[in-house]
Amino acid sequence: CCRVLVLISGNGSNLQAIIDGCDDNVDAEVVGVISNKPDAYGLVRAHHAEINTSCVIARKDERRQQYDSRLQQAIEQYQPDLIVLAGFMRILSDEFVSQYIGQMVNIHPSLLPKYAGLHTHQRALDAKDKEHGASVHFVIPELDAGPVILQAKVPVYEDDTVETLSSRVHEQEHAIYPLVVKWFSLNRLKMLENQAYLDDQLIGIHGYA
Ligand code: GAR
Repeated sequence: CCRVLVLISGNGSNLQAIIDGCDDNVDAEVVGVISNKPDAYGLVRAHHAEINTSCVIARKDERRQQYDSRLQQAIEQYQPDLIVLAGFMRILSDEFVSQYIGQMVNIHPSLLPKYAGLHTHQRALDAKDKEHGASVHFVIPELDAGPVILQAKVPVYEDDTVETLSSRVHEQEHAIYPLVVKWFSLNRLKMLENQAYLDDQLIGIHGYA
């Protein structure tokens, strides 16, 4: 069984989708949830699902590498096969990320490589984009730059606000993230030399199509 560890900072709706997706037909289990915020609602979701949780809260004046080494200790307790970043809103150090290459995935609320970083929905609206979406990608040291595995597109309407657009994107995130976890658990996904493969087929820059 594939041991999945999910890192969150907030609501955890993607965590919920992954918990629900790891049903009897999927050989994967969410074995733990780690949050950097003690009041993240995702922790409540984990408790309801009887999943162990840890909080790793940044200390005042703590260096990034110190935080990351405490995070690593917490991660090791769960012996994960796959680390899933699901709204985990901290930048991770290169050293930290390098340890988990090919083993850590993230979901980002844009059609990467567009709009790495924050405020993606506002930026898509400001640019008057006709489409927007979400991307699941392998994590590499460079922020939001790892090879894309799967994207979901949504239309952008003229009267959209950040709220309407982000809820449309969220809905798609909940469809694609559990699928990527399932692929990984079936050993179908690999990362080699900064590129993602599904069933040994190179995945294009806009994700599996
Ligand atoms: C998701 O929309 C995810 O794409 C985004 O945070 C949200 C978390 O929602 N992630 C990032 O912005 C990463 N930079 P959730 O807590 O309900 O899953």
